[in-house]
Amino acid sequence: RQLPIEEQTELLPYDKQWEFPRYRLKLGTQLGAGCFGRVVRAEAMGIKGSEDTIKTVAVKMIRSHTNMAAMEALVSEMKILIYLGSHLNVVSLLGACTKQMSKGELFIIVEYCRFGNLQNYLSKHRNSFINLVDGFGNMKSASDTKEIPYVSEHQTERDNPCDELPSDRRPASERPEEPPVASANRYQPPTQPLYQNQPPALNYVLGRYISTCDLISWSFQIARGMEYLVSKQVLHGDLAARNVLLADDGVVKLADFGMAKKMYYEGNYERKEGLMPVKWMAIESLTDRIFSSESDVWSYGVLLWELFTLGKVPYPGMDAGHQLIKEIQKGYRMEKPEYAPNLFGEIMTNCWKSDPKERPTFSQLREIISQHMTDLT
Ligand code: ADE
Repeated sequence: RQLPIEEQTELLPYDKQWEFPRYRLKLGTQLGAGCFGRVVRAEAMGIKGSEDTIKTVAVKMIRSHTNMAAMEALVSEMKILIYLGSHLNVVSLLGACTKQMSKGELFIIVEYCRFGNLQNYLSKHRNSFINLVDGFGNMKSASDTKEIPYVSEHQTERDNPCDELPSDRRPASERPEEPPVASANRYQPPTQPLYQNQPPALNYVLGRYISTCDLISWSFQIARGMEYLVSKQVLHGDLAARNVLLADDGVVKLADFGMAKKMYYEGNYERKEGLMPVKWMAIESLTDRIFSSESDVWSYGVLLWELFTLGKVPYPGMDAGHQLIKEIQKGYRMEKPEYAPNLFGEIMTNCWKSDPKERPTFSQLREIISQHMTDLT
């Protein structure tokens, strides 16, 4: 008999090597909060990777010590992170405090990504976005982009709102200096640097602001992280800009594996009721509660829409309810965002095919975007 998907993660083991002593963790300000869980910044003394120093980390915990479902989701998330191991585009686990679990306290310690989640970051930087897409959806050539304004060098803002500490006594290496550097200096696919033929002045300016290049690079990295999840037979189940974190050097990382599942059998999985991110869900998840890597691909399409609208809420002006589901069933889909290159409009359309089998795979998506980035250089 096939196990209900809710129970499958219980098969994954917890390895004591991840245990971190509670007393070596100093909790700080809140970084984010969901329905059941919250994430705080913390200082960890001598944790994985920095044995003799204090390291800034993020700690995930549940809000209510009596919410058993929330506790189970957090245990499941920890086991998934242990099982996943390390990948550049997946937030990495550093440790866990499980000793007080019977009292309802469980801490999951993950790497700290100082620019916070993409949804906040994008909407915050919307007004200073450098658009490299013309009115026809084509990428502007390098010569067209000379008009980009020169930017003041004094921009040393803090990007994660939670970085606003009253007195910043962190070591210089951990203090926010400037937004991550764009284009050539940023994360690149193993092929050629993105936009290496751009004039240096442009690269300099791009370094202060987000541009179309960043959005493309992030799309690529997210597809690559998801490709890794598929290779490990893990469903994310809640892929959205709010669940992708921005770290140094323009690296983005998949996070929030509270809804993630390890699939032990091929095929699709049914999920019980609960709070669901309707606007990110595939049509078959909405109508039949079926989840698969193909439904993650649908969510990836919605995430692309969020990226290229700089963090707008999907299906603007529509409530996440029965009416929306009906419209989607009738074939309604969102338009290509103004700032999205045509290729990304096509990708969104394909991710939102009603038949899950017609959607691209994450490997194909990674490949298509990588090719596009190479063509641009
Ligand atoms: N918000 C949620 N998780 C985070 C993390 N790991 N780093 C920074 N901000 C976060």
